[in-house]
Amino acid sequence: MGLLTGEALMPVAVAVAVFLLLVDLMHRRTRWAARYPPGPVPVPVLGNLLQLDFQAMPYSLGRLRRRFGDVFSLQMAWTPVVVLNGLQAVREALVLRGEDTSDRPPMSVYQHLGFGPRAQGVITAPYGHAWREQRRFSVSTLRNFGVGKKSLEQWVTEEAACLCAAFAAQAGRPFSPDVLLNKAVGNVIASLTHGRRFEYDDPVFLKLLLVEAARTEETSSLRQVLNAFPVLLRIPGLASKVLSGPKEFMVLIHEMVAEHRETRDAAQPPRDLTDAFLDEVEKAKGNPESSFTEENLLLVVADLFFAGLVTTSTTLVWALLLMLLHPDVQRRVQEEIDEVIGQVRPPEMEDQARMPFTTAVVHEVQRFGDVVPLGVPHMTSRDTEVQGFLIPKGTTLIINLSSLLKDEAVWEQPFRFHPEHFLDAQGRFVKPEAFMPFSAGRRLCLGEPLARMELFLFFTCLLQRFSFSVPAGQPQPSDHGVYGLLVSPPPYQLCAVPR
Ligand code: HEM
Repeated sequence: MGLLTGEALMPVAVAVAVFLLLVDLMHRRTRWAARYPPGPVPVPVLGNLLQLDFQAMPYSLGRLRRRFGDVFSLQMAWTPVVVLNGLQAVREALVLRGEDTSDRPPMSVYQHLGFGPRAQGVITAPYGHAWREQRRFSVSTLRNFGVGKKSLEQWVTEEAACLCAAFAAQAGRPFSPDVLLNKAVGNVIASLTHGRRFEYDDPVFLKLLLVEAARTEETSSLRQVLNAFPVLLRIPGLASKVLSGPKEFMVLIHEMVAEHRETRDAAQPPRDLTDAFLDEVEKAKGNPESSFTEENLLLVVADLFFAGLVTTSTTLVWALLLMLLHPDVQRRVQEEIDEVIGQVRPPEMEDQARMPFTTAVVHEVQRFGDVVPLGVPHMTSRDTEVQGFLIPKGTTLIINLSSLLKDEAVWEQPFRFHPEHFLDAQGRFVKPEAFMPFSAGRRLCLGEPLARMELFLFFTCLLQRFSFSVPAGQPQPSDHGVYGLLVSPPPYQLCAVPR
C-alpha cells in the first residue's frame, strides 16, 4: 500500500510521462524527414485525432486540403497517415506507384477473427502472395460464373423481378425502400456464394443480413479507436463484444460451407464460388504456401458480403431518393426505357449502350451519393514519392475519392445532382477521368462489373414498372448524406405507383 502514497507515486508518474513522450517522439520522427508532406501539428500521444471530425471526415479532410494542399500528413495516435486528394496525386500514387502503395494497414481487430498467414480474405489482406491468389480467384469466379450454368446477369434479372413484386406488394402505400433493396442485392451475392436465392422472409437470410448490418455499424466507430490503440483489445471481453456480429456471421457461413461439402457432386462443375473454392482447397492439400484453406474461404465469402452488399444497396437507395427529388429526370429515364426496351421485356445489359441518359443518371447517382468517400485505407510497402513528397514505408494512405467526385475543377456543379455531367453536347454518354467511385490501380474494386450490372438492371427494372413520389403530406426529404462507414441518404419513405 505504501507504494501508492503521493510521494512514491510522483517519480513513477514522471517516469511514465517521460517514457510516453520518448515513444511519442519516436513515432513522430518521420515528420521531420526532408520532403515529408505538411500537415497540422500533432499533440503528444493523440496526434491529430482531436482535430478531426469523425462524423464528417470528408468535410474535415477537405478543410485540411485547402490549408495544406493535395498531399498532406496526419498523425492518428501513433500511426502516420498521408491523405491524397485530387486526380493527379491519386492517379500518381495508385497507378504509377501502385507497386509501392497497394498494401493495407494491419487491422488489429481482425486478428481475433481467425486471420493468419494463410487466411487473410481479400479486402484487408497485405499486398502479397495470399492477396494475389485470392484476388485472381474472386475475379475469375465472378467472370466465369455462368459457364454452363445460370449467368450472373440472369440471376440479377430474376432478382429484379422479385424486387419489383415486393415493391408492388406495398400497393402504393408509403414505405422505406432500403430493406427490400438490401435483400435484393444480398440475394445476388448469395447466388454467387451460396448458389441460391432466399425468399425475402427466410429466417436464415434475415439473420444473415441482420448480422451483416450489425457488422457494418460496429466497424465504423469502435474499430477505428481499437485499431489506433490495439492495446485496448487486451481488455477482457472487449474483442468478443466488438466482434460479436462478425463472429455470428462466420457461424452462418460455416454452416453453409458444411452443407456444400455434404451435397457436392464431384462429377459436376462447381455450382458456385464456394464449390470452386473447396475444389481449390483439395488441390492445395500439402502446399503450405497456398491461401486456399477453409478458414480463408469463410473470410473471402465474408469479404464479398461486406464489400458488395451495403455499397450497392446504399447506391440504389440514393438512386430512388434522387428520382423523388428530381421528377423531371425520372420522367426522362422512363421515356428512354419506353423507347429502347418498352414495357414488356425485362432490361438487359446490352440495352445500356442505347440508353445514354439512363447511364448518365446512374453514374451521376454514384458521383453525387459518393458512397465510399475515403475508399479503403492503403499502406506503403516501401519508401515512395508522390507529387514530389517523400512517403516512408509503413505509412497509411487515405485515398480521398470524394475529392475527385466533388472536384470543383472537373464538375460543372459538383454539389448538385446534374446528370449532364456525363453527357456531351450531342447527348452521348461520356465519363470524365475523375469519376473514380471504385478507386483505381491494383486494389481497384474487384466487384465493379457486378456492381455496374446490378445498378443498371435494378434501377431500370424499377423505373420501367413504377413511378416514385414523396408520400402525400410528407415533407420533401433532404439530399444531405449521413456519414458513417459509408455515406447513406437520410431515411425517407416513398410511394411506388405502377405505371
Ligand atoms: C456501388 C458499389 C461498390 C462500390 C462504390 C465499391 C467501392 C469500392 C472501393 C472504393 C474499394 C477500395 C479500393 C481500394 O482499396 O483502393 C473497393 C474494394 C473492394 N470491393 Fe467494392 N465497391 C462496390 C461493390 C462491390 C461488389 C458488388 C463487390 C463484390 C461482390 C465488391 C468487392 C470488393 C472487394 C473484394 C474489394 C477489395 C479489393 C482488394 O483489396 O483487392 N465491391 N470497393
